[in-house]
Amino acid sequence: MGKIKRIGVLTSGGDAPGMNAVVRAVTRTALANGIDCIGIRRGWQGLINGDFIQLSRASVGHLLSKGGTILYTARSEEFMTEAGRQKAVYTCKMLGLEGIVAIGGDGTFRGALELSRLGVPVVGVPATIDNDVGCTNYTIGFDSACNTAIECIDKLRDTMQSHERCSVVEVMGRNAGFLALYVGTAVGATAVLVPEHKMNFEEDVLERIRESRLAGYTHFMIVVAEGAGNAFEIGDRIKEALGINPRVTILGHIQRGGAPTGRDRETATRMGFYAVQAFAEGRGNCIIATQEGSIVELPIEEALTRTKHLQMDRYKIMQVMQFGTSHPFDEF
Ligand code: F6P
Repeated sequence: MGKIKRIGVLTSGGDAPGMNAVVRAVTRTALANGIDCIGIRRGWQGLINGDFIQLSRASVGHLLSKGGTILYTARSEEFMTEAGRQKAVYTCKMLGLEGIVAIGGDGTFRGALELSRLGVPVVGVPATIDNDVGCTNYTIGFDSACNTAIECIDKLRDTMQSHERCSVVEVMGRNAGFLALYVGTAVGATAVLVPEHKMNFEEDVLERIRESRLAGYTHFMIVVAEGAGNAFEIGDRIKEALGINPRVTILGHIQRGGAPTGRDRETATRMGFYAVQAFAEGRGNCIIATQEGSIVELPIEEALTRTKHLQMDRYKIMQVMQFGTSHPFDEF
């Protein structure tokens, strides 16, 4: 690839705090390398539709503390089709886009791989609050979403304590328990339910509440990942078994908003920088990932084969903190 002159940048999938910081870093790094930067709005669908804005140093100013994405995001059924992707290729040809920086999760990167196979180089930057992208230790937005959930649950604990009640809180995370485990540990939950550990209601919920009560507590906090079960059903089962009346809170999309934390802003800035450096140095078709604190480039096809699993050592630590409970881990 000769010296690249113009790239596009887009955000795709569920938005995450810190996406704007990536857009800012991509734009400023591109301009510093003499590369023009075009913002594609509304994800892959925007590339199909030719929905774009010119980005400049000024237009990405004051973004670091802004949640969401100025480029909007969307999920695109049309891009899942060869015809849709071909339209996206024509947009790249029309606008002279020699590469695309795609900011999103694993679904975004699967689309990126298909586009790269049609000759458009792509560099992916992992950004989703779920932290469930297999090739990277960390995805931008995870720390911000966790801190939002922690703040909400700390507030819930105040009122649960006052009324001596049980709270069942559902957090996001799609099919993974990374968010629930991190948050559950940080708030000292009575029980944490994650999809990676098949729930034994008696063991994982009722026994945890009993141990807490026997230790003198009169309020209880159950954190459940949305992929592990329905918080309302769990509340009903607790009520039926123990005769208490849990209050259920679904944190939902509040976890997706808010100002990104310093960790997300700083990580986003570095990842955005390295994404453009790859293009500037003649590389593409890779994912910018964190591995043990360092930032690395992984070929996109290899990156999509990587998987990661819930850190079972951390799950065990969380259980020990629940009054020393620790039972054998049958499977993960
Ligand atoms: O992938 C991020 C995420 O927030 C998941 O945690 C959640 O399950 C999903 O997006 C919700 O998707 P939507 O915003 O389309 O309702």
